[in-house]
Amino acid sequence: MENATKFGRTAYCGELRATDIGKEVTVCGWAARRRDLGQLIFIDLRDRTGLLQLAFDDHTARDLFEVASTVRGEFVLSASGVLRERAAKNPELPTGDVELEATKLQILAKSETPPFEIIENSEVNDALRLKYRYLDLRRPDMQKIMALRHRAVKVARDYFDENGFLEIETPVLTKSTPEGARDYLVPSRVHPGKFYALPQSPQQYKQLLMLAGFDRYMQIVRCFRDEDLRADRQPEFTQIDLEMSFVDIEDVLAINEGFIKRLWKEVLGQEIKTPLPRMTWREAMDRFGSDKPDVRFGLELCDISDIVKGCGFKVFSEPVANGGSVRMICVPGGGAMPRKQIDSFVDFVKTYGAKGLAWAKIAEDGGVSSSYSKFLTDEENSAIFERAGAEAGGGLILVVADAKDDVVFASLGALRCECAKRLELTTKGDYKFLWVTEMPLFEYSEEEGRYVAKHHPFTSPMDEDADMLETDKAHCRAKAYDLVLNGTELCGGSIRISTPELQEKMFRALGFTDEDAQERFGHLINAFKYGAPPHGGVAYGLDRVIMHLAGVDSIREVIAFPKVQNASELMMGSPDVVEDVQLTDLGIQIADHKT
Ligand code: AMO
Ligand code: AMP
Repeated sequence: MENATKFGRTAYCGELRATDIGKEVTVCGWAARRRDLGQLIFIDLRDRTGLLQLAFDDHTARDLFEVASTVRGEFVLSASGVLRERAAKNPELPTGDVELEATKLQILAKSETPPFEIIENSEVNDALRLKYRYLDLRRPDMQKIMALRHRAVKVARDYFDENGFLEIETPVLTKSTPEGARDYLVPSRVHPGKFYALPQSPQQYKQLLMLAGFDRYMQIVRCFRDEDLRADRQPEFTQIDLEMSFVDIEDVLAINEGFIKRLWKEVLGQEIKTPLPRMTWREAMDRFGSDKPDVRFGLELCDISDIVKGCGFKVFSEPVANGGSVRMICVPGGGAMPRKQIDSFVDFVKTYGAKGLAWAKIAEDGGVSSSYSKFLTDEENSAIFERAGAEAGGGLILVVADAKDDVVFASLGALRCECAKRLELTTKGDYKFLWVTEMPLFEYSEEEGRYVAKHHPFTSPMDEDADMLETDKAHCRAKAYDLVLNGTELCGGSIRISTPELQEKMFRALGFTDEDAQERFGHLINAFKYGAPPHGGVAYGLDRVIMHLAGVDSIREVIAFPKVQNASELMMGSPDVVEDVQLTDLGIQIADHKT
């Protein structure tokens, strides 16, 4: 602790130990709790490090005792005295062996009764927590998370600095970027009718920095995307953004594996073994139905299209005939699952677009009940059981059939995670990282009726697929990779296209006319004419990384002032209406003013 300030603080509450007994200390903080036993008053004083018990007893000067008796919850106090051994020790508390025999007490601020108790693991509802976020953040668990976040960011800056990366800031008022979400727009007063876009990521700037010769760039940067929110999505979120020159995939993965190893070691003291496992995108989809597979548990997908393609049950045979597939997962021990739970799975997969969920339960005694078996022959049924390995032990087979593979993957991919959750198949502190590689370069957009870039239009195709850009978009693979942890995409990146010829070919493949491409990305196309080094990079969702390090379920828990589901911020109350004069200045008229 630094030298005495105006308030004379000499120690943090939570750091005092038996070895400090006899020391004269001054501590500052909030009154977490006051116990008044008549002749004895105890106040638990809280600061960001923890609690310390202040004691006032029959040795305490009467006027001081009087002041202590007026203290209420969340009053801000400064207390001085000598640290002494505590009579009744509290092994639950790191400072439980000591207490401060207060000889001075100052009330620095009073507090109204807070709308909820400032304690660890409080059960308060989220809306109230977020409305009074400053009080919520005062809770010990939130204090720990914010300190952990600080530590992780520090490790990131140190690690990348040691590896030759320069931190360079890029503009926030910029032009629309192609990450694929909706942009947040900022109207220009100086250029009526024109808008800045807030960056969905600094993608183009970081590529231009490689052109500028900076070689290795990093930035802890805020990104903005107007998209539907989920537990791991916020409209503004933070990336650890990286770009490197003269690299191919292996170089990028290696530097990032070093980072993950360092981060987990320094923040959690956990050893992560590298190199991290890898899986191609195709394998991830086939086995887990997801491009961000949670590989902590099995319940893998299994294709049974070949068994049922000629069967008499149209629900199964038609999707196969129409280019789709029939796949299943088998839940070991699920044979005893009550019907109600299975029905809830049926509803669950429907939210992913599946038309239904067929099931078969094999009880311990071998008895079968099923929603589909009666429509199949004995051979077909036993072929399915055999493939599922389900005869023994009592298993549950869950089948989705659809003419669109995407629907089969999405619904079964989500269902296997849901089953794992309900059956508690995962344990806290088990970190299963993997790189998903060889992503498709394109994906078909139903909305636009054409192929669009899956990552962004600067992503390089794999060398062996380079001539498939025009001829076979569906199978053309990219030099793109994601790092996945326990079912979350932590980061994504790619090796970029670095020649104007290939970039033009890519734009043509995406259906941009030369004029479109010039209009949107002219700055980049032109820059590439002046010597672009081969380059590539990656960006982490920092909030997601912290969510895993902190062991919480939502990135909201690791952002000081997050937004809620409908993208509003409950404490300040944003977004909000503005003065008419502000709109006039901007040349804006509100068409449909609902408030
Ligand atoms: P991408 O779009 O995959 O790549 O984003 C990188 C990472 O950012 C995180 N992320 C989010 N986190 C919270 N809320 C969101 N709304 C959100 N959206 C994305 C994810 C994701 O893996 N410019 C490229 C990177 C590159 O190619 O180098 C990019 O932004 O963890
Ligand atoms: P039905 O003939 O509609 O009674 O369907 C028989 C069983 O097949 C029921 O359990 C349905 O839930 C299931 N089912 C219906 N459509 C699908 C589908 N697309 N994929 C898997 N099962 C389905």
